[in-house]
Amino acid sequence: MNPVHLRQIEAYVYRKFCEEGTGHDYSHMKRVASMACMLADREKADKQISEAAGWLHDITDDKLVDDPAAAKLELVQFMKDIGIKEEERSAIDNAIADVSYRYGHNQPKTLEGQIVQDADRLDAIGAIGIARAFAFGGAHGRLIYEEGNDQTTIQHFYDKLLLLKDLMNTDSAAMIAEERHEIMKGFLRQFHLEWEVMGESSANP
Ligand code: ADP
Ligand code: NI
Repeated sequence: MNPVHLRQIEAYVYRKFCEEGTGHDYSHMKRVASMACMLADREKADKQISEAAGWLHDITDDKLVDDPAAAKLELVQFMKDIGIKEEERSAIDNAIADVSYRYGHNQPKTLEGQIVQDADRLDAIGAIGIARAFAFGGAHGRLIYEEGNDQTTIQHFYDKLLLLKDLMNTDSAAMIAEERHEIMKGFLRQFHLEWEVMGESSANP
């Protein structure tokens, strides 16, 4: 794929996501694209298709766009307009088709799809994953934490984020996930410690 196409895709993604405020902003797409490119190198996959799919993986997501079908048509038209070949368009399309965690634990069929899914999941864990979870929780009016409440952002760590390290498709991503997992465990340990100290002091003034 022509490297100029990748810069055009980046500019397209920037226009779409520069004002997004729930943790799915342009910088998320940039990190997923860079991580996908790095994983593709280590896993001997197609680096450019992986990077392109990394940039575009959320572009038709129904939590980010009102009309996913229209967003998809617009994307196809854009890729045609800038001259991306049919064969490359379908490779990109296949790679992003079943990346999302929310639609079940689909394992993407292509190696590039598996890589983009890993890159997306890696961005949900570690220090940046922690920041994104609270950005998402805040944007959706969720409490940080409350005992017995299963809708808090802290609960999201137990429901999803702590499970991700065992769901990586590639060994390269699994190695990175181990380290990020430990960061989250340390954060949660400290969070509960601070929470308990404050709870005790207000209950027993
Ligand atoms: P995907 O990126 O596959 O579309 P999600 O929308 O579930 O998957 O997750 C994207 C980001 O939003 C992740 O960083 C995730 O931690 C965060 N997120 C999703 N649901 C919640 C939630 N209920 N509370 C806090 N953060 C969430
Ligand atoms: Ni994403």
